[in-house]
Amino acid sequence: MQNVTFHDHKQQALSFLDAVVEGLSQENKSIPPKFFYDERGSELFDRICEQPEYYPPSVERKMLSELSAEIASLTGQNRLLIEPGVGSGAKVRLLLDDLKPSAFVPMDISFDYLKTVATQLAAEYPWLPVHAACVDFSHSLPLPDEAPDSPRLVFFPGSSLGNFDMTEAEAFLKLVREVLGEEGMLLIGLDTKKPEYVLNAAYNDAAGVTAEFNKNLLHRMRDELKIEVDPRSFDHHAFYNAAAGRIEMHLVSKRDQLLHLNGFCFEFEQGESLHTENSYKYEPEEFLDLASKAGMVTVRHWLAEEGLFGIYLLETTALG
Ligand code: AVI
Repeated sequence: MQNVTFHDHKQQALSFLDAVVEGLSQENKSIPPKFFYDERGSELFDRICEQPEYYPPSVERKMLSELSAEIASLTGQNRLLIEPGVGSGAKVRLLLDDLKPSAFVPMDISFDYLKTVATQLAAEYPWLPVHAACVDFSHSLPLPDEAPDSPRLVFFPGSSLGNFDMTEAEAFLKLVREVLGEEGMLLIGLDTKKPEYVLNAAYNDAAGVTAEFNKNLLHRMRDELKIEVDPRSFDHHAFYNAAAGRIEMHLVSKRDQLLHLNGFCFEFEQGESLHTENSYKYEPEEFLDLASKAGMVTVRHWLAEEGLFGIYLLETTALG
């Protein structure tokens, strides 16, 4: 394949082993959600996106396909398009024909999955140079040397910003601001606050796919770190924490148990939780306030019917 290159920057990131040792040593046990996404986790996430209760992907996809030409009229064509956390690349496909970027830099933490997706994209869009970067985008957004020097557009759909806490989200937006430079733009999709029953259903689908996705962390601990843990000995627990404005996902131990890893012994009591994910929901003004702290202002924003989801196009402001 002529128009695709691959770059692996993941070694710079905290390893799964380090994250598990650190996370299980805390009084309130937790593991960052980025560790869901090995190949199996990425595939499970794609299946979550097909569940009827998990509305964000279908709502966002409908918005993007309807807005694609309008977005391109605001951004112009020929930008270097960068997508941290590209996943299956389903959403960027809705924009490529209108945006006509000079090149595309898909970024993801799962290298095998990224290679497949980047190769498919390069085959489907023969005019598009694709420079895939395997990276933990919460820490850095390294651009490949061969990326053209055109104005930049970062595309960050799927409400992925919601998986950062407020401090991390601001730091990430500052990182994006740095990558964007003076003429850069950010197109971002974010889930909104809404009645609790809608949110709770979205993270507790009837088919149990979200539960399986959550338990993928236990599969990884068993298969990669050789921890003797039975994924069935934990329950999936997800609920909206209204005070914090976020969905929380936990794995709750069904019994007292000890997990052994490299000479460490981690004790779980029955009912004790391993906190695996937060998913913050934003009102437009909350997000725009955060973006302004990172040096970006809104060009336009759109809300789906009944305010179910928000898409924001921002541009950089001069750094003071
Ligand atoms: C990727 N991220 C924005 C999803 C979310 O909604 O927080 C991950 C997810 N977790 C459970 N379902 C989906």
